[in-house]
Amino acid sequence: MKPGDRLMKHFLQFKDLRAEEYGYLFERTRIIKTRFKNYERYQPLADRTLAMIFEKASTRTRVSFEAGMYQMGGSVVHLTTGDSQLGRAEPIEDSARVISRMVDLVMIRTYEQHKLERFAAHSRVPVINGLTNEYHPCQILADIYTYIEHRGSIAGKVVAWVGDGNNMANTWLQAAELLGFTVHVSTPAGYAVDPSVAGVRDSACYRVFDHPMEACAGAHLVTTDVWTSMGYEAENEERRKAFVDWCVDEDMMAAAAPDALFMHCLPAHRGEEVAAEVIDGPQSVVWDEAENRLHVQKALMEYLLLGRIG
Ligand code: CP
Ligand code: NVA
Repeated sequence: MKPGDRLMKHFLQFKDLRAEEYGYLFERTRIIKTRFKNYERYQPLADRTLAMIFEKASTRTRVSFEAGMYQMGGSVVHLTTGDSQLGRAEPIEDSARVISRMVDLVMIRTYEQHKLERFAAHSRVPVINGLTNEYHPCQILADIYTYIEHRGSIAGKVVAWVGDGNNMANTWLQAAELLGFTVHVSTPAGYAVDPSVAGVRDSACYRVFDHPMEACAGAHLVTTDVWTSMGYEAENEERRKAFVDWCVDEDMMAAAAPDALFMHCLPAHRGEEVAAEVIDGPQSVVWDEAENRLHVQKALMEYLLLGRIG
């Protein structure tokens, strides 16, 4: 991949790809996952290297990208703020120029989206958002694939978002606008989704409800996230009070469609944003959702590095 290569794509926000590209990625995910489950070797990324830069903690994102890259024949370099010059104020632009001369692909988990965009603007290779304060597109890729696996197309369906108007909520809105479903959002006062941050133009892709039960009514998928995201820990006590009624419980699931699924990007706090009976109950698909991070990201890395197969 050369700088300025018109085929080079980054994945910085969900809206960076088109609906038709998601259709392709979901089909590739199905094929790659099936091969993996059958213990068939598939190593199209031999000799390719992924740099993973973490400025925040991670379990799923690290394991899924690292395992996925090795399974596809490549290798990984793992960097954190603490063990690299990133933590000693080397300009992000300089880091991008250097790192992207040595690897084929970069995944970054950081704070401000702007920082990720500055890196991408100076990178010779594709850059993937592994979570920022504003967005978490790899997670929504896995969530939608998981919905499709269990229930078929998500177009025309209703997704209930209960909780913080955070990076996950923003990304759900982008996906709804692109893929033709609706998000019913309920957040405590003061924690609403900001459509300008979410970056959606079509206000028909979401509806706002004061009460979480109303958001869940008739929903095909109910989903939530932690009350306090990484980087907002100083607000923890204040948030614990504000969010107390935004716990997805069995009553909310009963208000949803009878075959509604429950998802959570994890890590979860039982008794806070979700009742144990829900996350550990029959409608929960959180373990499939977590596993699918591996499969969708393998399809994403294949696409960003090799383009369409066949
Ligand atoms: N869901 C998710 O991104 O998990 P990690 O923070 O463990 O990577
Ligand atoms: N909204 C959460 C997601 C963690 C995967 C956070 O940003 O901490």
